[in-house]
Amino acid sequence: MKAHIVTLPGDGVGPEVTAAAVAVLKAVAAHYEHDFSFDEQLIGGIAIDATGEALPAASLGACQAADAVLLGAVGGPKWSDPNAPVRPEQGLLALRAALGVYANLRPLQVHPSLANLSPLKNDRLKHVDVLFVRELTGGAYFGAKTRTADTATDECKYTVAEIERVVRRAFELARERRQHLTSVDKANVLETSRLWRSTVQRLAADYPDVTVEHQLVDSMAMLLLTRPNRYDVVVTENLFGDILTDEAAALAGSLGLLPSASLGDGKTGLYEPIHGSAPDIAGQGIANPIGAVLSVALLLRHSLGLDAEAIAVEAAVEKVLRHGPRSRDIGGNAGTEEVRDAVLAAIEEHADSAAAFFCGARACG
Ligand code: NAD
Ligand code: IPM
Ligand code: MN
Repeated sequence: MKAHIVTLPGDGVGPEVTAAAVAVLKAVAAHYEHDFSFDEQLIGGIAIDATGEALPAASLGACQAADAVLLGAVGGPKWSDPNAPVRPEQGLLALRAALGVYANLRPLQVHPSLANLSPLKNDRLKHVDVLFVRELTGGAYFGAKTRTADTATDECKYTVAEIERVVRRAFELARERRQHLTSVDKANVLETSRLWRSTVQRLAADYPDVTVEHQLVDSMAMLLLTRPNRYDVVVTENLFGDILTDEAAALAGSLGLLPSASLGDGKTGLYEPIHGSAPDIAGQGIANPIGAVLSVALLLRHSLGLDAEAIAVEAAVEKVLRHGPRSRDIGGNAGTEEVRDAVLAAIEEHADSAAAFFCGARACG
């Protein structure tokens, strides 16, 4: 198939992990005979330096015309002055809003061979398979902001329509998984959470096959550490989802492992690892590219409908996590490129064995 993919490497380790992810996409194109075209654009701090804007119009236009967008990370100390007129993160928020990608899927699995890296006891990490669905274009991130010399406000606003569309997406995903949905809110305190909870309760009638539970976010933060294997799909608002998924990454062993897919009703999906620009390790060639590579698998599955190819990428990552090489954050000493090359080799092997199986079954060549 033909697909046009815009890449936004961004700042810090963003370009390092994005380069690995693009190499994986190119390998998939070569092995499965697809025609992927790539267009690299500016976002974040690097865009501010070049144009004064965190999301230049040319970048946004290119993203809107693409089949999918692959992003690295934005931000860093250079642009973090609290008084700066424009911040890299604004570019990412503007992109999410412009693409209308309101549902941010963040899958969490704990690979058995990495369980010893988690601060939790191994037995708590068996069978952990959670899909977080984070609302991505509303809440405090996008409400009105005010600031005077001694006061600041961030409005947190949700409409029923905004809650409905992301919750329906979560119900549908739960249907395809283990039919269990946990909705996380702070309905004992926040009015937005009470609207959230009553909306979930009303929609539940449309999904009688899915069991729904409600959990307050503070206790959820604790439960995620004490019984993580109890959860299937977890849906929550923007800020809670941001925080809970970084916490969840600690169960997997490293923030560098988790991918994400941001989807809306439009055609273009946005794919990015959940980690940031990791300024403490940027430029050293040691960032873990697995979160970015698994984001490629999500891109293949959700934007291009290429399931077999997505599975091949996930199987390749599985193999590399099992046998190495591993980057430093997960207990090895390999650099980003060494991990990338191992993933590429595993994809090649997977594609060859699939071809051999296919030919064997058909008795061809
Ligand atoms: P971070 O995610 O950048 O880093 C947190 C810790 O995780 C660091 O110790 C880092 O070295 C480690 N880490 C992250 N990714 C890794 C990887 N791939 N391999 C190995 N280790 C990895 O969070 P932070 O330090 O709080 O934020 C730094 C900057 O990134 C900030 O400007 C923040 O706004 C931005 N940020 C951007 C995104 C994004 O673009 N989507 C996401 C989160 C944070
Ligand atoms: C993420 C990041 C972003 C967020 C920042 C960089 C705006 O932390 O993608 O998780 O808070 O959504
Ligand atoms: Mn985050």
